[in-house]
Amino acid sequence: MQNKEYFVIEGLAGSKEIAGSIEVNGSKNAVLPMMAASLLYDSSLVIENCPDIEDIKRMSELLGGLGVTVDRTKKGSVVIEGQRLSKSILDAEISKRMRASIFLIGPILGRMGEVTFPHPGGCVIGARPIDLFIDGYLKMGAELKEDENFYTLACKDGKLHGAEITFKFQSVGATETFMLSALLAKGITILRNCAIEPEVTSMALHLIKSGAKINGAGTTTLIIEGGDGALLHSDSRNVYQAIPDRLEAGSFLILGAIAASKLKIEKCDPEHLSVPIEILRSAGADIEIGKDFLVVKAVPPNVCRSISVKTHEYPGFPTDLQAPLTVLISQCCGEGTIFETIYEGRLNYTADLMKMGADIKMWDAHHVTIKGPNSLKGRELEGPDIRAGIAFIIAAIVAKGQSVIRNAYYIDRGYEQIEERLRKIGVNIKRVSA
Ligand code: EPU
Repeated sequence: MQNKEYFVIEGLAGSKEIAGSIEVNGSKNAVLPMMAASLLYDSSLVIENCPDIEDIKRMSELLGGLGVTVDRTKKGSVVIEGQRLSKSILDAEISKRMRASIFLIGPILGRMGEVTFPHPGGCVIGARPIDLFIDGYLKMGAELKEDENFYTLACKDGKLHGAEITFKFQSVGATETFMLSALLAKGITILRNCAIEPEVTSMALHLIKSGAKINGAGTTTLIIEGGDGALLHSDSRNVYQAIPDRLEAGSFLILGAIAASKLKIEKCDPEHLSVPIEILRSAGADIEIGKDFLVVKAVPPNVCRSISVKTHEYPGFPTDLQAPLTVLISQCCGEGTIFETIYEGRLNYTADLMKMGADIKMWDAHHVTIKGPNSLKGRELEGPDIRAGIAFIIAAIVAKGQSVIRNAYYIDRGYEQIEERLRKIGVNIKRVSA
């Protein structure tokens, strides 16, 4: 999806001038599945600390097409009337713009007995199959029909049935979606090899607070008692407070580790970032950990370390911080390696960093070696996904000269008003509408 807005950044030419404090917003990846979870309630769900970003807008539009109202009542707050669900076909155009559309299929199937959806889209980070979803719903008693544009899943007797599902590998979205489906199913569901990302646990805890019978929240095995189609009921006002976005906090932390004299990252949960913090400290960054804040000072130029990182499911180093980390390694003295284990198309952005002057060797779709430090030169860039987009912004901040980051939409998908927030900490960035 192209859009005409772009960012213009005047780089700092390697000087460590970033300073001040920056606040972290609510987590996109916690809010999106909770928007799907709204379909499990018999009354409205309020989501607070909800960022105003493009992916949330797309999810709101998708829900709107299903008869569900989503209102932004005040800054940071949305109210969703999920009980109004009246349709079972997902809008194809919107679904193709966002992987998280797949989160809706479980609740729709559980409530309506049928769901029709296209292959979900999203960031350009390689093939993103949906086999775990299809295999799981077949086990829960659904039948699959496919034509060239849509999949249709339909429950043989109108309802989902509890099942034992062992995921071949951990998947954030599949864990969340099957947790929701299992609560609507008849009987007990056991999910094994579940993802334990903080966003998954946060959702489970909110559902439990609303009376859902989920055992094992925060572990890799979830045992869920289904309500046979019954919706959850909250006695008091049903408010989900989104956890801080650990990926946004991690992006700012890496920016600080490259370019800050002293940067305070506020309203974050440092516990969710323990591995990235450890890696940045081993690279030479000075990081102070507070209860809900971090203070970072850049790696000094004379510190030489080698940094070797393998992306991993939580609590390992997140794939979503891999691109910003590559920029950091390119600015450090020494050699680093990145092994991207989650996606096979998520190192392609390195070609652009090389054009900026980074010394990177790509061995295959999963491995790169980076030698630093190399001063980067500003240039015109376009991020293929949210996280490569923020990495390009960080690279442009570090570089000498002007950079233009095309297609601001990709960054707006995940980061609210990034230019305003970065300007406050000393970045010379502006948004331009062509
Ligand atoms: N996968 C399959 N088959 C499936 C499901 C997943 O092969 O049926 C593969 C994926 O292609 C990927 C791996 O499993 O290679 C793990 O993907 P996962 O399902 O965990 O990812 P997701 O739920 O689609 C969420 C985040 C992503 C983040 C990943 C991994 C949301 C909305 N998205 O995606 O976030 O990269 O987990 O942690 O929660 C981002 O925020 O920029 C972003 C891409």
